[in-house]
Amino acid sequence: MCGIVGYTGNAPAAPILLEGLEHLEYRGYDSAGVAVVSPDKGLQIQKCKGRLQALREKLDSLPPLEGTVGLGHTRWATHGEPNDVNSHPHVSQNGRVAIVHNGIIENYAEIKDFLLHKGVRFRSDTDSEVVAQLLEYCFTDHSDPLDAVYAVLERLEGAYALGILCADRPDMLIAARKDAPLLIGYGGGESFIASDATAIIAHTRQVSYMEDGEVAVLTRAGVQVFDQYRRPVEKQRHTIEWDVSAAEKGGYAHFMFKEIMEQPEALRQTISPRLRDGRLVFDELELPEDRLRDFDRIFLVACGSSYHVGMLGKYNLERFLRLPVEVCLASEFRYSSPLVDERSLVIVISQSGETLDSMAALREAKARGGYILAIVNVVGSSIARESDGVLYTWAGPEIAVATTKAYSTQLVLLTMFGLWMAEKLGRADPEDYAAVTAELALLPAKLETVLADTGVYQYLASQYFNHDCIFYIGRNLDYALGLEGSLKLKEISYIHSESYAAGELKHGTISLIEPGTLVVALATYGQLFDKAASNIVEVKSRGADVVGLTTESFRPRMEQLATHTLTIPDTHPALQPNLGVAPLQLFAYYIALQRGCDIDKPKNLAKSVTVE
Ligand code: G6P
Repeated sequence: MCGIVGYTGNAPAAPILLEGLEHLEYRGYDSAGVAVVSPDKGLQIQKCKGRLQALREKLDSLPPLEGTVGLGHTRWATHGEPNDVNSHPHVSQNGRVAIVHNGIIENYAEIKDFLLHKGVRFRSDTDSEVVAQLLEYCFTDHSDPLDAVYAVLERLEGAYALGILCADRPDMLIAARKDAPLLIGYGGGESFIASDATAIIAHTRQVSYMEDGEVAVLTRAGVQVFDQYRRPVEKQRHTIEWDVSAAEKGGYAHFMFKEIMEQPEALRQTISPRLRDGRLVFDELELPEDRLRDFDRIFLVACGSSYHVGMLGKYNLERFLRLPVEVCLASEFRYSSPLVDERSLVIVISQSGETLDSMAALREAKARGGYILAIVNVVGSSIARESDGVLYTWAGPEIAVATTKAYSTQLVLLTMFGLWMAEKLGRADPEDYAAVTAELALLPAKLETVLADTGVYQYLASQYFNHDCIFYIGRNLDYALGLEGSLKLKEISYIHSESYAAGELKHGTISLIEPGTLVVALATYGQLFDKAASNIVEVKSRGADVVGLTTESFRPRMEQLATHTLTIPDTHPALQPNLGVAPLQLFAYYIALQRGCDIDKPKNLAKSVTVE
């Protein structure tokens, strides 16, 4: 995780870096820092523990940093607790270089040991500091900074996006990337590096994405990029299409609330280019039918909420395709010697397209011959670039750490893809196909009706915000949906929460139900309403309060069972979770609000998880 931004140009660097960091704080907010270099003052570093605001206040109390070349960093701590010293930028012993780093240097202990024996004194407990110290050490043999950088990179193991400044080269910034995102931005007489485009979009829309092993040298004169063998690389430039306002709060109190409310529009963006005259079309895929026919198994691989999309996807895809579908946590998949071969379709789901575990799982599956299809939100991200095919969710930038609109668009896209594939293989039931596609067209408007009135969620939050444990139960699609509802609640409100397949309750969890315990019972999957009803009765008879979520057509029955009833419009069962998730998001949001939590930046979390 961690966010990096860098600038070279003619304007004072510090304000540009701070503004860029504001957009990167979602990547980590344990500490923040900037380094600026100038011919007169050399390297000037300011950094401190805490949010970016703390750094701003510190800088406001000091004379301005001088220089038009600099780096900024916002940290999600891995090695070394969040404190001032462990904050980035890290400076080498004699102050010759400053670096910012995102990733983990896996062999840092070995390098540190080597340098300690050479008499180098370390200041921090981080893995990152070894890069600064090793670089300065390499300057003894290499006077050219680029030579020294290559000598260092040769010795590093692990993942890194690096920004490097040299005290005696106030005109230059060097960047390097391996397994952690970094892009280059091109402006008029200025250039940038950034972990993602939100940090620099106010200055330029022209970017190129650095590849593993590449090193970039940025000066006022322009940008040069080299591959791992130091051969010059001609980078392809891309234009960022989305508007800067998409990454701003626009009057909402929180990004999360804004993004919840943006879901109907995000669904429209995802669905409409792929639904024409009642038919599903995936023009962006070059997947010949004989290749489709070859697949005998599907793997859905992801982390976090994207994994929950996979959990839901398994039910829908198996139903549509009658093919075995395995849902795998990327972090487990990569080390499990997965049974992927040429006949496997491996769908990697990731909002950011940068999650390290998902990326590693992708490479593992690719090496075993699988066809990799990515469902990704961020255009040009690493996962998108390394996959055989990409389906973009077109949700727009998602800033809140807890995902909402990216989840929803991933979900609908996976369902659409499954049905499209079933039809191509002649396995789709025509009536079902027509019913799903008809409902897809109506889905955004139906979701709007769910979001139109938030009063009921605010009321429920006021009743239950001080509970210390909340259960979610459901069957089939509702079970997978409950996992996401429970995750939303715990990640932003810090209330302990568990989600169970309702049928499993009696095998243990029910012993935790006491008078007054809140159980959120999901029963939107009509076919199993009766079964869910029995489970609701079981917990109620042990004293639980039940918030029951069901569809309009089951409202009267739920009202007889639950303490409080929430409803969503009826739609095709395969799409019902796309409506069902919104009440769960809003319930979690209002509970976190009542508890005074930092909703967009929950403690210990980061949005883009680029470490193992
Ligand atoms: C983090 C985010 C989650 C996200 C997960 C996977 O934990 O906070 O919201 O679901 O990473 O991220 P990805 O970008 O791969 O979907």
